[in-house]
Amino acid sequence: MTPAQDRFIHAVRMALGDKAVITDPADIDPWLHDWRGRYHGRSPAILAPADTAGVATIVTLAGEHHVPLVPQGGNTSMVGGATPPDDGSALVLSLRRMNRIRRLSAEENLVVAEAGVILADLHAAALSAGRRFPLTLGSRGSATIGGLAATNAGGTQVLRFGTMRALIAGVEAVLPDGQVHDGLSALKKDNRGYDLDHLLVGAEGTLGIITAVTLRLVPQIAARAVAWVGLASPQDALTLLRRMEVTTQTIESFELLPHESLAAVLRHIPGTRAPLGQDQPWHVLIEAVATDPAAEPPAVLLERLLAPALADGLVADAVIGASETQAEEFWRIRDSISAAERASGPAAQHDISVPVAAMPRFMVEAAAACDAAFPGTHASGYGHLGDGNVHFHVRAAPGADAAYWYAEDAPRVTRFVHDLVTAAGGSISAEHGIGQMKRAELERLSPPARLAALRAIRAALDPQGLMNPGKLVTLAPVAPTP
Ligand code: FAD
Ligand code: LAC
Ligand code: ZN
Repeated sequence: MTPAQDRFIHAVRMALGDKAVITDPADIDPWLHDWRGRYHGRSPAILAPADTAGVATIVTLAGEHHVPLVPQGGNTSMVGGATPPDDGSALVLSLRRMNRIRRLSAEENLVVAEAGVILADLHAAALSAGRRFPLTLGSRGSATIGGLAATNAGGTQVLRFGTMRALIAGVEAVLPDGQVHDGLSALKKDNRGYDLDHLLVGAEGTLGIITAVTLRLVPQIAARAVAWVGLASPQDALTLLRRMEVTTQTIESFELLPHESLAAVLRHIPGTRAPLGQDQPWHVLIEAVATDPAAEPPAVLLERLLAPALADGLVADAVIGASETQAEEFWRIRDSISAAERASGPAAQHDISVPVAAMPRFMVEAAAACDAAFPGTHASGYGHLGDGNVHFHVRAAPGADAAYWYAEDAPRVTRFVHDLVTAAGGSISAEHGIGQMKRAELERLSPPARLAALRAIRAALDPQGLMNPGKLVTLAPVAPTP
């Protein structure tokens, strides 16, 4: 610990009490590694304030003592965004104690949740008030509202309700100078210049600490049905989606996965079983919902929409979950892909988007190009086809040495994939953010105007560079990965 850190921690303890400072290495350690186990950091203490005033005190003191902070919620980042630097120079600032729901109004369809509220808990709170917060993802048991807002998270309901940004009506945050920005009032119209709330959304903690968020709620579901569909190709899947959308606006999820993703789940996740009797090259999970109890039941709707597709061969096989338990089983398969892949060995992960109509072709052609360019590896994509966003992963050749792969091969594979994405007019981060994993690639591939603007915004709000250093964008260019 440096003398400056020591003085800073002492000052925080004096101001906020012992509960706000965690120094036991056993309590700190679990929060120093990312979910995938790719990044390992150090932090002499974790700061854990209980309220917004406490966060403001910490940020002000950090500025006075020149100590960088790494904001952290559930630590489920897929890009090492919440992992502190490995030189121990920064302190983790955990928002997890700030887990109150300050206000929930069913009449206004709004909820004000503190940054540390876990997504699953927000779901439960909304349901108990007869409403629903629609955004969901596989990490909902750990991911926090602050982290979801800071990454502008997506998930499996974006098709209908958009990403976090579309569901955020206001943000409260402590800015890098220690002042509190209060945007929670959720004004429908507010044109007082730059939209500070939405500048903080997706900023990955580089422009300040989000302390609370006003979120939009939607009507509760009266009924839902989940179908599991087998088909021949991503293009057939998109054709099916477009056909279904002509008939109904109530398709909430349309998630695509290849045979190998299903196989990985069945292999590594206990208690899962294949939804269809026969192997299929591609699978789609479709969820339809009804909010009106008098509306056509979603299971009947799905049956009606899938029947002609089965008849004309667009769909090879399909099953509609016969019960809520079966629907949950289908979702468990989808939500477990990341865990199954983590257990499957080394891979290069990419979270990419291209225009929706171009995605089916991109998935097939990019996978073939990768397999040809890197013999022995295997590329495939799964995910949010209807959003033009898939997780395009390239698995190392069987038996590959993980350390060598991540140091030497994976960066080359990643540059190859990202070049294809860029040539297709796409994005190298569709939903997980940049973090530390993609910073060099963002710098390599961003048009100069975008990069200069990102740097200028960061420098203007945080001239000392104390907010989540080393993430998203640095103020000076970084050396490219080998
Ligand atoms: P953390 O991991 O703690 O932090 C994420 C980033 O936000 C970091 O840069 C951190 O510094 C910053 N941050 C955290 N809290 C604050 C705050 N209060 N103020 C300012 N900055 C802050 N993501 C998707 O978008 N879609 C998915 O479908 C999806 N599925 C996932 C499935 C699994 C199994 C896992 C492990 C992850 C998945 N993710 C997904 C990624 C991850 O869950 C999201 O990025 C989520 O938003 C992170 O929330 P968190 O609370 O864990 O944030
Ligand atoms: C998913 C995560 C990885 O879609 O974003 O499963
Ligand atoms: Zn995803």
